[in-house]
Amino acid sequence: MCGIIGAVLCEGGAGALVDTLGEGLRRLEYRGYDSAGMALVGGDKTIRRARRPGRVRELEQDLGALREGDARTGIAHTRWATHGAPSEANAHPHICNGAVAVVCNGIVENHEELRRAQTEAGFRFTSQTDTEVVAHEICAQVQDGRDLLGAVQAAAAKLKGAYAIGAVAAGEPGRLVGARRGSPLIVGIADGGALIVSDVPALLHVTRDYLVLEEGDVVDIVDGAFTVYDAAGSEVQRELRKSGGDSGAVELGNYRHYMEKEIFEQGRAVADTLEGRLSGGHILEEMFGAGSGALFDRVKFVKCIACGTSFYAAMVARHWFESCGVPCDVEIASEFRYRRHTVPDGALVVAVSQSGETIDTLEALRHARRIGYRDALCICNVAESSLVRESDFVLLTHAGREIGVASTKAFTTQLTALLLLVIALGRRAALAAAAESELVAELRALPTAVARALELNAAVAAVARRFADKRHALYLGRGAHYPVALEGALKLKEISYIHAEAYPAGELKHGPLALVDNDMPVVAVAPNNELLVKIKSNIQEVRARGGQLLVFTAEGAGIRGGDGVTVVEVPSVGDAVSPIVFTVPLQLLAYHVATIKGTDIDKPRNLAKAVTVE
Ligand code: F6R
Repeated sequence: MCGIIGAVLCEGGAGALVDTLGEGLRRLEYRGYDSAGMALVGGDKTIRRARRPGRVRELEQDLGALREGDARTGIAHTRWATHGAPSEANAHPHICNGAVAVVCNGIVENHEELRRAQTEAGFRFTSQTDTEVVAHEICAQVQDGRDLLGAVQAAAAKLKGAYAIGAVAAGEPGRLVGARRGSPLIVGIADGGALIVSDVPALLHVTRDYLVLEEGDVVDIVDGAFTVYDAAGSEVQRELRKSGGDSGAVELGNYRHYMEKEIFEQGRAVADTLEGRLSGGHILEEMFGAGSGALFDRVKFVKCIACGTSFYAAMVARHWFESCGVPCDVEIASEFRYRRHTVPDGALVVAVSQSGETIDTLEALRHARRIGYRDALCICNVAESSLVRESDFVLLTHAGREIGVASTKAFTTQLTALLLLVIALGRRAALAAAAESELVAELRALPTAVARALELNAAVAAVARRFADKRHALYLGRGAHYPVALEGALKLKEISYIHAEAYPAGELKHGPLALVDNDMPVVAVAPNNELLVKIKSNIQEVRARGGQLLVFTAEGAGIRGGDGVTVVEVPSVGDAVSPIVFTVPLQLLAYHVATIKGTDIDKPRNLAKAVTVE
């Protein structure tokens, strides 16, 4: 999704500035985008700009002209289209009257009203974006005699919605002003310069020192020195932080795609997520941080909020929570954030997110606090994310950076972390010590079980060929494996563009069975548990209608392949971790179908890694 980098560098000239901004853009690429651009302010008080639809590497061909001259201030942007198609005209930076250039993340909700007023005032629009109004508004303030700082402050006061802005002015070559409300903006502090970025990894090639702007803050960077003002315009100090993040690029090694690499990293990722968190037959509650014991003692109800794959992880966890006697509800964050409800006593809100920057999840967390949830815990993969900063308690998944847009190792590590939380709360409810030991034993065996599931790669690649020319697929699961079926279907649609839907297997005869014929592949998730006999019947219902079945079942479950039924046996594991292990072959299936179809697996069309707009 959209990304911002801006910088004032006191040394190195325009070439160094272009390199710094260009590397920042490359580091923002993983978020997903469809156009990119850069603008520099020269000592001659002119703004020069390059922008293009497509990839950053394509933009790089246009950056030669920007390298000439003495510019030391610039802004750059990756745009994920919301208002207006991905085109050069809609790409940022937007320039108004040659005087002001602006990059903007988020959505300006009152853009239509501002556009009308600005059109009447004589401003000419050259894009369909909601954000061009920001450039015009700041420009109007500069024309009224304000300096860039005053102009951004005055303009920001007129904007509604969630946004982060970076602005430069032709008349002030050493100045860069940033502002945020709703979307993150970070200030990087380097020797002889300062930067603004929307995401910490985008500044690690320059510095590890940074601070996070708070809601309504404006930062004024002049010749590399910076001052932060709050929404009321008072100068404020924000906490200086040092990033411990990995500054290097993630190497692909011998893999063809990051998604493939990340699928195969899951044994290690799960082991890292468990590292230092188990002792004998117990979990170590220290992992949740100071005060968590008192928190867990008062929790009587868990409300999970999340989006997409993270939501499916929470759906699996609901089964675990409830089976340990902990009442739990799971809700899509974008729905929860607009819904009022009564908050039960002892309610804990648990936000689950890989990136920690998903705006719906962040807003759902803020909404939860507003409506009376006293305690918030997050399960997140990015230590330096907004979600981690805003939560009272944090359990990090140690999956390592996930680059592929389709989430894989994030999901299995979220499940691992959620099971640790289930044990912490469950031992205060109906989870007996012996049952805790069994769960811990299952967790200890998990990395090996995941590694064994990955050995199914060749078998899954062979069956994937049958899906490549299909337009639709059905996925079936039951109980805690129904969300696994949902996740398998999501993976298939995201990267192969085959329409796939998952149903609780018992629901099939209530409608979806009408879709089944010999051209409809049906993927069934059939672990060897108390629901096996039920799903076997559902498989027969499909077979009786000519449906072609691919059944992922547990070793020893007694489902045999034959006419119209292909069986892939998944390593047998304990009931609790079974959803984690069954996920692996479903990821492999989606991956192999997509490789056969030749899609852009790591950057599927229309999708973004961090979804920072509503
Ligand atoms: C699917 C996928 C998305 C994310 C969703 C939430 O493969 O990646 O559905 O799971 O956008 O993202 P996070 O977990 O970063 O909040």
